[in-house]
Amino acid sequence: MITKCLFPAAGYGTRFLPATKAMPKEMLPIVNKPLIQYGVEEALSAGCHTMAIVTGRGKRSIEDHFDISYELEHQIQGTDKEEYLKEVRNLMHSCTFSYTRQNEMLGLGHAILTGETLIGNEAFAVILADDLCVTETHKSVLAQMTELYKRYKCSIVAIEEVQMSEVDKYGVIAGEEIEEGVYRVNFMVEKPKKEEAPSNLAVIGRYILTPDIFDILRVTKPGKKGEIQITDALMEQARLKRVLAYKFKGKRYDCGSIDGFVEATNALYHKLRS
Ligand code: UTP
Repeated sequence: MITKCLFPAAGYGTRFLPATKAMPKEMLPIVNKPLIQYGVEEALSAGCHTMAIVTGRGKRSIEDHFDISYELEHQIQGTDKEEYLKEVRNLMHSCTFSYTRQNEMLGLGHAILTGETLIGNEAFAVILADDLCVTETHKSVLAQMTELYKRYKCSIVAIEEVQMSEVDKYGVIAGEEIEEGVYRVNFMVEKPKKEEAPSNLAVIGRYILTPDIFDILRVTKPGKKGEIQITDALMEQARLKRVLAYKFKGKRYDCGSIDGFVEATNALYHKLRS
């Protein structure tokens, strides 16, 4: 059973400056909810009740969002506006939230290693909240992945097909399809040039990781961009055939980019109004 979900949320969000100068990108709202709240809802839908959030300087508002705001609650008590807080209140009652800080932004792999203190020695989920995943008729993307984990008990990355011109923004996998949409990964590379990419199957911000990843991350050297890359650590597990890639059912919006953010806003607005 996967019960804990890690949210690396310490990045600077430079693609969204100046909005992210004093505000975490995880707090950018899609319609009326911050990205991180969508992520927590997805984790809960997959059976995770412990949210472990890796933050950094300037990220206090994430903690405040999942806490009681006494003045505000007092102000709207008994009015119809209470309805607006219902969802986030439910999350606060259903989950526990714990936080740790990544003091230096040394990459996603480093952020995940920083979260070890909150996770301990068990398999766990990872959500990058700026990748917003929406499903219509299916279970949430993370719930699809935890189902798969029950059968295979190894690390799993969510993948989608991207244009070859886009592969240099992602971790890219190669593998053998062992059932429909499920690949046994035998190679992974971070942000390859398109001539060097092994496929157009790109890793998006949903992972299930077995806890041996922490020992691997401890000795993983900085890779692309001088950062400690989770892709490089996963490649070590892939050598032992311990990584699956899963072509999820649903739609992902890259809300860390302006285009993806606007697309998600439009899509969710129409869903809300229909
Ligand atoms: P990104 O590559 O999107 O980087 O990180 P970023 O800093 O958030 O955004 P840009 O590219 O500058 O606009 C992927 C995820 O990993 C987290 C980020 O918060 C994001 O969720 N991350 C990245 C960390 O927590 N720590 C890091 O050192 C790097």
